[in-house]
Amino acid sequence: MNIVIIGLGYVGLPLAVQAAKSGFTVTGFDIDTFKVADLERGRSILPEINSQELLELIKSSKLCLTSKLEKQANSSIFVIAVPTPLNQEREPDLTMLEAACLTIAEVVQDGDLVINESTSYIGTLRNFIKPIIQKESSLINLKFAVAPERIDPGNKIWSITNTPRNVAGLTREAGQEVVKFYEKICNEVHLRTNPEEVEAAKLIENAFRQVNIAFINEVAKLATKLDFSIHNAINAASTKPFGFMPFYPSIGVGGHCIPVDSHYLTYSAKKVDMQLEFVDFANKLNLSMANFIVEEIRQKYNFDFKDKLIQIAGIAYKSNSSDIRESPALALIELIRSRGARVIWHDSLVNTFGNEKSVDLQANIDMGIIISPHDEMDFSIWRDQNKLVLDFSPTPRNFGWNKFI
Ligand SMILES: NC(=O)c1ccc[n+]([C@@H]2O[C@H](COP(=O)([O-])OP(=O)(O)OC[C@H]3O[C@@H](n4cnc5c(N)ncnc54)[C@H](O)[C@@H]3O)[C@@H](O)[C@H]2O)c1
Repeated sequence: MNIVIIGLGYVGLPLAVQAAKSGFTVTGFDIDTFKVADLERGRSILPEINSQELLELIKSSKLCLTSKLEKQANSSIFVIAVPTPLNQEREPDLTMLEAACLTIAEVVQDGDLVINESTSYIGTLRNFIKPIIQKESSLINLKFAVAPERIDPGNKIWSITNTPRNVAGLTREAGQEVVKFYEKICNEVHLRTNPEEVEAAKLIENAFRQVNIAFINEVAKLATKLDFSIHNAINAASTKPFGFMPFYPSIGVGGHCIPVDSHYLTYSAKKVDMQLEFVDFANKLNLSMANFIVEEIRQKYNFDFKDKLIQIAGIAYKSNSSDIRESPALALIELIRSRGARVIWHDSLVNTFGNEKSVDLQANIDMGIIISPHDEMDFSIWRDQNKLVLDFSPTPRNFGWNKFI
């Protein structure tokens, strides 16, 4: 059985490596020729991918990486792992998903199984992926399934193998085959009734985080007005052994999942003329945090941003990741610059963004702002010089500085 992974990013690459390690013959396909060339040299931006291991899998022909997909000799499983972003109107942009379906249609053979791992709105497998591939390939004996990825890049505890996986097929046979495949990759596989339940579960998981982060961000705003420590209050609430789960305030949510997926959920509702007001509000509240923080800094510290030098520590959307997609730090930087300040940033994992480069932590700044500190960041230069530093990272730590304004 050949496994063909379409898209070698945060989701597709770890799957390709794990499938090859589990004994499958894997073809990893990506339209990005530079990425494929880098990977062939063992170079990946994902910390969980071991360069040596990658090179050995390639050398032993267990894993083949390519930008040109050919028909496979044996029957195949195609796994789609391409981006599903938002368009200008913040609605689903399925252009890359459609392109992936067209690629599959060119090489798929009767009896093959197509699995979607990309996150999308409820009904995507049945009403979008299947019709395109069936029409373009003119094949009627194809099987379709979903198995949304839950990977948390940089998480040292939960990996592709020990994170339980929900799967479902459009037919009983597709369901059985998708289970058989993921049982080789993951320790725990749950076959669900239909793809819509699984697609919905994925969106619920991420909207749940969006909503709870928004809730605690709103209470954090209150905490700054009433002058109590939001982190101490959350820690106090966390002593309740049941019915409470802590979420921590931040300058907003980022990454390819939380800020994006909730729009795929609201879009699912829009298609049946419904509005998910709760989710919409959570999204707005999280987007409002950068503005709130800048205003609070101005008022609480009587701080005029004009001509000040501000350094941001960590611009990735979360700690120990180089991913800057939808990172709220970028909105904050823009906002502070619009107030006339000079902003430099330090992020040893991102290193370059646009024309800008990471700058080592500096002593001659007027203010330091911590957003996404990576484990390797050493703040002693700021601590020793007793700099004004505000820490907006959601991870509860104690630098001895203001936790949240
Ligand atoms: N990143 C995460 O933590 C995460 C977690 C769970 C689910 N997801 C979902 O998984 C999907 C993929 O996300 P990602 O983070 O891996 O994206 P990514 O941007 O890291 O990687 C996607 C890869 O697909 C390639 N690609 C784009 N169009 C293609 C095409 N037509 N054919 C072949 N390759 C193509 C890109 O070049 C890129 O290398 C998205 O739907 C995302 O929402 C992501």
